Amino acid sequence: MAEMLPIRSARPHRSERRGSDDPIVTMAARRLGTGPLTIAAGSTAGGTRVAEDRIDVGRGGVARSALAAQYGDGGANLVTRTGVYRYVVGAGDAAFDFPGWVLDHHLWRGEETVADVGCGPGHYVEALAGRARRVAQLDLSPAMVAACRRRRAGAQVVADAARLPLGAASVDVVLAAHMLYHVARIDDALAEARRVLRPGGSLLVALNGVADKAEILSLWQDAGRAVLGAGFDAPNWSARANLDNVPGLAGAHFGSVSVDRLPGRFRFPASDPVLAWVQSLRAGTEDVVADAEWDAVVAELRRRLEERLGREGALVVTKDSGVVVAR
Ligand SMILES: C[S@@+](CC[C@H](N)C(=O)[O-])C[C@H]1O[C@@H](n2cnc3c(N)ncnc32)[C@H](O)[C@@H]1O
Repeated sequence: MAEMLPIRSARPHRSERRGSDDPIVTMAARRLGTGPLTIAAGSTAGGTRVAEDRIDVGRGGVARSALAAQYGDGGANLVTRTGVYRYVVGAGDAAFDFPGWVLDHHLWRGEETVADVGCGPGHYVEALAGRARRVAQLDLSPAMVAACRRRRAGAQVVADAARLPLGAASVDVVLAAHMLYHVARIDDALAEARRVLRPGGSLLVALNGVADKAEILSLWQDAGRAVLGAGFDAPNWSARANLDNVPGLAGAHFGSVSVDRLPGRFRFPASDPVLAWVQSLRAGTEDVVADAEWDAVVAELRRRLEERLGREGALVVTKDSGVVVAR
């Protein structure tokens, strides 16, 4: 059974310095203030200290303000998105233990200390409990950290993947599951993973490939351009970090990098689950697309989807999820 890793803060959490009224942030700050923390030399680690509030990360990129909108709900958007996996045909469907499959790319001894970076509401916590001794859950979103805490007591902290509040060579496994595409400076996060990993440790980066859900993105893009013109881009987070480009990026920091994929297909018999997936990506796009425009694009997408479903009976969509393993 894993125990949760104590993370310690040598400096007060930002909310303490600024006197936050947010009970969740204050609670995280209290926890951080109580234990020992190994802060790397030159690091500004210690929770939410982030310089960039709005970073233009290009097409499909997500500024911090948009991330806050997307993940400030503690997981509802994420649950809607993962709901599409019930439409997977074959390996990788909703019944498949994807967290267990990802984690089994490390050879566990049962002694490991794990940093679950971008942990979200804690989807990996049960799978980690059976494999590791100590787990730290870290996420940029206070709402996600609070959701983790409701799920299981332990070491949960608001932190940026690019500045981990962990000492050099202090963990055996860094897990970064479906989060690397959100990080403004992906190379910094990979360098941080290398820094905190002990020799022989594993970085496990769960991601999708560039072809994943490409058919939905293409239909969405075409509907958007038909309504709003050629300037419309469907948000595509995976364009920034995916199973296809992360091995090369990780190779700059790790001696050995491999990829394992779980290819498959979604088969959608109706438009609603596809539209729910699209709607789950609305939060955080309000600055770019006004409500009326968004609704018009979704209506056009629904029309196109239903036309296609009427013609073909189902929408078949590529699934390409997997893990990059770096050591
Ligand atoms: C798609 S969710 C994945 C959650 C979980 N790892 C899973 O696989 O279910 C992405 C998570 O990454 C977090 N995140 C985004 N940018 C981050 C950053 N720079 N540092 C740490 N966490 C970040 C978000 O707040 C969100 O909880």
